[in-house]
Amino acid sequence: MKIPEEKIEEVRTATDIVDVISAYVRLKRRGKSYVGLCPFHKEKTPSFHVTPEKQMFYCFGCHEGGNVFSFVMKTEKVSFIEAVRTLANRAGIELPVTEMAQTADTQNEQLFRANMIAARFYFESLTQTPEGEYALEYFRSRGFTDETIRKFGLGYAPRGWQALINHAAANGLDIEYLEKAGLAGKRDDGSSYDRFRGRVIFPILSTTGRIVAFAGRQLYEDDTLAKYINTPETPIYQKGKLLYGLSMTRDAIRKQEYAILVEGYTDLISMYQAGIHNVVATSGTALTEDQIRLLGRYASAVVIVYDADSAGSAAALRGVELILEKGLDVKIAQLPDGDDPDSFVRNKGKEAFLDLVDESISFIDFKASELQKQGLFSTPEGQARAVRSIIETLAKIPDELKRNFYIKAIAERYDLYDSTLHRELDSVTRKSRQVGSRPQITDREERVTDAGTVVPGDQKDSSQNPAESFSSAERDILKLLLESDRDVLEFIFSQVTSDELQHPVARSLFELLLDHYRKTGSVNADVLINDDNFSEYSSIVTQLISERYEVSERWEILRGFEEFSVNMQLSIDAVRTLKKWNIRERIESVRKNIREVERQGGDPESVGMLARDLQILQQELKLLDQHYSSTNK
Ligand code: GTP
Ligand code: MN
Repeated sequence: MKIPEEKIEEVRTATDIVDVISAYVRLKRRGKSYVGLCPFHKEKTPSFHVTPEKQMFYCFGCHEGGNVFSFVMKTEKVSFIEAVRTLANRAGIELPVTEMAQTADTQNEQLFRANMIAARFYFESLTQTPEGEYALEYFRSRGFTDETIRKFGLGYAPRGWQALINHAAANGLDIEYLEKAGLAGKRDDGSSYDRFRGRVIFPILSTTGRIVAFAGRQLYEDDTLAKYINTPETPIYQKGKLLYGLSMTRDAIRKQEYAILVEGYTDLISMYQAGIHNVVATSGTALTEDQIRLLGRYASAVVIVYDADSAGSAAALRGVELILEKGLDVKIAQLPDGDDPDSFVRNKGKEAFLDLVDESISFIDFKASELQKQGLFSTPEGQARAVRSIIETLAKIPDELKRNFYIKAIAERYDLYDSTLHRELDSVTRKSRQVGSRPQITDREERVTDAGTVVPGDQKDSSQNPAESFSSAERDILKLLLESDRDVLEFIFSQVTSDELQHPVARSLFELLLDHYRKTGSVNADVLINDDNFSEYSSIVTQLISERYEVSERWEILRGFEEFSVNMQLSIDAVRTLKKWNIRERIESVRKNIREVERQGGDPESVGMLARDLQILQQELKLLDQHYSSTNK
């Protein structure tokens, strides 16, 4: 069963795609559209476009594209129905209840549901059961208020091996999904057990605030497992790809344009409670490129606040280089010995913490002080090595202007010539290129498999933009079919047959559109993009209706005219061009045949026949112009 078309329409009109996408991508206005770094592939210069006028998005880098529903589907990995539901929620539109139940149809939805049931269960075990009192006491002893506990959905997983399993069963959730969500393990004999037992629980949310995993912290002395246990990776949880707390803090991060990066769940929670909201936590893994990229959608700068111990500063150092490589600015705030962000903010308060952030130092000073600790600056040779090591970090900054800026800073600080440092920098980059220590993976290489699915039946050019290899007439015809009223569709379908389209992808799309038109009486790009039968074509379709192909002068000139007649004019032109193109090709092949025959001695009869063919074709070409003359020419 489906959500009624009117409801989908209602949600669509109530939703602004720029608003929705802004929650994921930092968008900048450029002319009629907005651009930003594509969330679907790795890139350094923005090729991701959103047009408010069409309410579509399209990436010229990876060719991902669609409308607001497909955007939510792709970023949240949910079904179409679930995307509609999410956006309906957001717009305050109620969907009929029967359709709501329908949303739990995909496997991922079942995993989200399992996590939701578990989170409620853990929260209730914490706040409403005698066994949870000890855990509640523990949280309170750490200074967490009731409001914080509720806000972060903290919980308690009871001891015993079946508590969640029994609860889930009572709620009609199949154990299979508890297992798939990583909440239950399976023994060799086939029986199941709770993964989290006798631990305090931190739910881990996706960027949009859905529960994707849990972390359980050791609570009891006799618990000999690790300090933290996490949900293993599942289809909805890849730990290196999300940042703890981001769903709650991203607005503050966007507003303040920088993020404070900490290591622990409790660090983040304490800071948040103290009123510092622009913070994220890496939560257990070393900082990954994916996490930095994610952060880069909200902030252009990062302040790392790590523990003062040596493990902390080593981790900070690695983080610094990764962050610089991704083109973000980075500073480091140093905590006093023995403190972590949690203890510091709890003991000294918000203002003291913000002072610390204000005093954060550049990566140059941070590195210098680390090297100083190693005693490197005591000799001239040591200093040279230290400077070289700083330059090595500097070399990771992709932006040349920024690099130059830092070169000046280093030159001043160590009383060196800029030119010396530039030479040093050159030799570092040259060396790393020779060794090939950091192979440059282009966006395209990383996308090959994805892009391959975009081009049905066309292997040779799979990483290319398929619509780009259509002829302009093919492109125009398909575009017109997607954007026009009935009269234009009737006209094109009555004049053109699919075999007149040369490009195999263009041809099969044409056939699909014709088929769809025969069945439904219309062609609606928005509907098609979400139609499973069209899934392989959805990015071609969006490409075709995106602005890029409107720059053709005719489109610009004619745009001023009445809409329907304009499209009719354009289809007449396009049909004529397509047919001309085909005839020209046939003419060309006849000419080739004539040359061939002549080379073989020139059998007069054959030559005569071919000459007649040629004449007929040339006549056809002339007639075409008369037949398809658009009225305003
Ligand atoms: P508290 O000791 O309760 O304040 O927690 P913390 O967050 O300060 O822990 P700590 O500073 O020791 O570790 C920082 C982060 O590393 C934690 O929040 C976890 O994300 C992660 N971590 C620490 N220990 C473990 C562990 O044993 N296993 C896993 N998977 N992660 C851990
Ligand atoms: Mn801690």
